[in-house]
Amino acid sequence: MKINRTVSISFVVLAILSISAHLVRAADDTAALYKTKCASCHAADGSGNTPVGKNLKIPDLTSADVQKKSDQVLADITEKGKGKMPPTKGITSEQAKQLVAHIRTLKK
Ligand code: HEC
Repeated sequence: MKINRTVSISFVVLAILSISAHLVRAADDTAALYKTKCASCHAADGSGNTPVGKNLKIPDLTSADVQKKSDQVLADITEKGKGKMPPTKGITSEQAKQLVAHIRTLKK
């Protein structure tokens, strides 16, 4: 059944395409989420080089001090806040993890 095979191959190709499109979109979404929810304090590059950041003495997210902390610790802070950082409203634990993955990409 030649046609059947072509059909099933097309399905596999489609599935792969939609999964990779999804992954690309997820990364874009996370970068956008970081911009709207975090950059006002932490700066787009994570340096904390913003008026609020300087005011609150925000740690540089790209620094070794922050980067050496575990994903779990950073995700918890991202979700629940810490000290002068308020809890982040409207994100899921999954999104907190993705934001941590984004912070990892900012590492120097
Ligand atoms: C209102 C300003 C503000 C916003 C918005 C904010 N943060 Fe923070 N963040 C802080 C401050 C202040 C600290 C330092 C807290 C402390 O140690 O007392 C901090 C600390 C952190 C830390 C821990 C650094 C460390 O090593 O202790 C992480 C990780 C972090 N923020 C991630 C995020 C992410 C991701 C977002 C967006 C979802 C975000 N923050 C939004 C102010 C903010």
